[in-house]
Amino acid sequence: METCGSSYLLKLCFSLALFCMPFVTFATDKHTHQDFFQCLSLNSANATSISKVIYTPINSTYTSALDLSIQNLRFRTPSVPKPLVIVTPVDVSEAQAVVYCTRKSGMQLLVRSGGHDYEGQSYISSAPFVVLDLVNLRNITVDVEGATAWVESGATLGELYYRIGEKSKTLGFPAGVCITIGVGGHFSGGGYGSLMRKYGLAADNVIDAQIIDMNGKLLNRKSMGEDLFWAIRGGGGGTFGVVISWKIKLVVVPEKVTILAAVRRQNVTSLVHKWQYVAAQVFPKELYMSLILQSTVGADGKPTMLAIFNTLYLGGVDELLNITGSSFPELGLTREECLETSWVNSTLNFYGITGQPLETLLNRTANTRAYFKNKSDYVKEPMSETVLEEVWKWIQKEDPGVAVMQWEPYGGSMSEISESAIPFPHRAGNVFKIHYMTTWTNGSAEESNRHLSWIRSFYGFMAAHVSKSPRLAYMNYRDLDIGRNKDHGRTSYRQASVWGTKYFNRNFDRLVKVKTAVDPDNFFRNEQSIPPFSSW
Ligand code: FDA
Repeated sequence: METCGSSYLLKLCFSLALFCMPFVTFATDKHTHQDFFQCLSLNSANATSISKVIYTPINSTYTSALDLSIQNLRFRTPSVPKPLVIVTPVDVSEAQAVVYCTRKSGMQLLVRSGGHDYEGQSYISSAPFVVLDLVNLRNITVDVEGATAWVESGATLGELYYRIGEKSKTLGFPAGVCITIGVGGHFSGGGYGSLMRKYGLAADNVIDAQIIDMNGKLLNRKSMGEDLFWAIRGGGGGTFGVVISWKIKLVVVPEKVTILAAVRRQNVTSLVHKWQYVAAQVFPKELYMSLILQSTVGADGKPTMLAIFNTLYLGGVDELLNITGSSFPELGLTREECLETSWVNSTLNFYGITGQPLETLLNRTANTRAYFKNKSDYVKEPMSETVLEEVWKWIQKEDPGVAVMQWEPYGGSMSEISESAIPFPHRAGNVFKIHYMTTWTNGSAEESNRHLSWIRSFYGFMAAHVSKSPRLAYMNYRDLDIGRNKDHGRTSYRQASVWGTKYFNRNFDRLVKVKTAVDPDNFFRNEQSIPPFSSW
């Protein structure tokens, strides 16, 4: 990538950057940038080295550096506010300098790891801002004997799974299904996947971390203290500091696991109805069977429903067939639908990539990007068949295959871990989580409005059938419709608690206390960060 290179170029780049700044999306103060760049060159161990990883709008590679990990095309349009500077440090001291200098210059700092935030909160702000992109900080060290690993935030889940699988056939890690997600944002908001019923969330399995605080100081678990260590494991990214790396506890997996994606087009309502009673409450922890629900066109040309039972079993196919045969015979699962494979291989298959080498896990751009809007809900009581039929009608209001509902079974370890163990509060009492998704490929305003309007109306309809007072949502499925900070994060506790309690329930108050102690000036903020009491 073309960046600012030698020390001569460094000076030239910095001067050109200052000269060009007024032409970017928002007006900026020349001195702010001068201060920032001078500060960076003074506070970096090697000014030439950091100059190579600075991108400003005058670099021809600025746009590709910005777009590199943007997942939601809704936020890749020219009208979306852009950062004044992007820095992709190659070592921790450079990241510390970026934090220190951004704060000193009075700009806002957004940290980005994998760029998968549903609302672009790692690279969009209406205030003049710097993006600290951790793409180059992605070392992973696996200690097989100790069954632990250190993983830097800029690594993707695919990279993590690959490095674990490279060292051991019987160790794994419970995190998300999408292999291109960044560890930094994912662990910060919880992070669930197909091992959740057996081992909980990614954040449940973090045992140490390194974080850069608002002063640019690097802290570990001992020096940050237990309150902050509690908060960063699920309290949401972009609020408490820049988490540089995480020490994780690896979990035991059998050498062979069984996976399948059973597609059913008949009796969908009764199958889904039954699933609600077995997937969380009857199946053993070793069995994770999630549901993908979408509309399709039937043989008669009319819209009809399709259900995919996406399954991972920590054991062999015979045991799996015994379990489903006795507790869910209606599914009619057959041996031919199942595949026995290694856990690491299952991560690729589970993501829907088959017949590709395992190295695909290392591809940071392995997924297809689109325009999308997603939402989430928690279900405490199974829905009746009559309600399910109503739900199908809503899905069928969207174009066939465009709207998808993903149902994630809870129970197992998710019910055993206390609601306050980490900030993620959705534990016992939840039968499943709903993930609503609508995706489109034409970015016109008309098309966007049509899909946004559909998902908002559908969400409105679902209110009667999901958690209430508060209606809960998953932090990592960020949804600005449920509330946002006003005036660049200077929101009152009362305003923020509207969405804060939806994500964190009773843990919201403790998060505000931690925030007040570690970042009273609200330097680390986004539209849904936790406010300190002082920002009322
Ligand atoms: P990104 O870099 O955009 O960061 C997200 C937020 O965290 C931002 O506020 C950012 O500032 C902050 N942040 C990032 N790095 C940080 C750091 N090092 N320190 C502090 N704050 C930091 N979830 C899930 O649980 N299971 C799943 O299977 C999936 N699947 C999935 C598929 C796809 C296609 C998408 C787009 C998303 C998911 N998710 C998911 C949701 C995902 O977990 C969520 O978007 C994460 O926040 C993404 O983390 P990234 O680092 O990629 O995002």
